[in-house]
Amino acid sequence: MIGEDSEAVETAGRTKNLPSLLSIRETPAAGSHIQDIVDAIYEKYHNVDDGEVATYIPELSKANPKHFGICLATVDGHVFRAGDWNKEFTIQSMCKPFAFQMALEQCGMEKTLQHVGVEPSGDPFNSIELDPKTTRPFNPMVNAGAIAMASLIKKSPVEAGIESYVDKMSQAAGRNLRVDWAVMQSETLTGNRNRAIAYLMRNFGTIDEQVNESLQQYFAQCSLLVTCQDMAMMAATLANMGANPITEARVFDVQYVKYVLTVMFTCGLYDYAGGWAYEVGLPAKSGVGGGIFGVVNRQLGIAVYSPKLDAQGNSVRGILACKELASHFGLHAFELTNVGSSFMQWMLET
Ligand code: DON
Repeated sequence: MIGEDSEAVETAGRTKNLPSLLSIRETPAAGSHIQDIVDAIYEKYHNVDDGEVATYIPELSKANPKHFGICLATVDGHVFRAGDWNKEFTIQSMCKPFAFQMALEQCGMEKTLQHVGVEPSGDPFNSIELDPKTTRPFNPMVNAGAIAMASLIKKSPVEAGIESYVDKMSQAAGRNLRVDWAVMQSETLTGNRNRAIAYLMRNFGTIDEQVNESLQQYFAQCSLLVTCQDMAMMAATLANMGANPITEARVFDVQYVKYVLTVMFTCGLYDYAGGWAYEVGLPAKSGVGGGIFGVVNRQLGIAVYSPKLDAQGNSVRGILACKELASHFGLHAFELTNVGSSFMQWMLET
């Protein structure tokens, strides 16, 4: 049964008119200051060896713990990268903001918020809990909320919903993406905690009776293969009011992007969300594959990949690199003592 589904999933979601590799614009000479800083941050942290690669999804344990990539993509199409920026890994929970955006686009605000809240839970991503006051998941960034969003955007047959998700993500990345079948199978076989969360929500009527289809949609979403550059480009697409900076395709409906960024800001790093907002100050999302991406409104997308995780399930080198990027470039949303979020523009123009 799983094998049959996998065939469809593997071939799902090839966006026809996109390349398999994204060609980026040439970066002006002034951009080399930025590249120097990205290179220095890579050098500073590439030997940090703390944390553990995720093993609770057995296929993820095969990740190379040495991998470390950084990529910055500006809204006008310049890209700065270091290390393993082109290695593929699965997006995992970094899919959640995009699925929330898709639910808002497909179902509208009112219906979407009948199925999910926007409050930080302060709890781990896989907590088996709903908001006791509303019986909705706390937010779309924890697994419960993400499964509820998968339930809203799934289609019949399930392959059609997966294809529509892969297409949208490919448009945001600017190249054709695909699902990693081995990871999806591994998630499906070991995903009992997610099944428990889904059936809890079914019990309260938060999701419909097609529980397995909702889980299939969610597992496929998490198993999308991306690179650091893909994630930086997706982040830049959000930063660029929903349009991909290179292809200029309008991917996301701008009226919902601010809501997605808000939930990323308050809930994207789970029980480290407060510390992250305090220290880095960017809307961001992490995944247990080792990726973290962040959005600098109207300026920039940043992404870091390194598979060794801390106790909260966030990439150790990823957090260190993001802190340093935010501090060097003045990216914190409440940075008032320097040129703040226009710093990138200023550097490119001087
Ligand atoms: O639901 C899960 O367990 C995974 N597919 C995704 C979890 C994840 O990435 C949590 N993020 N840090």
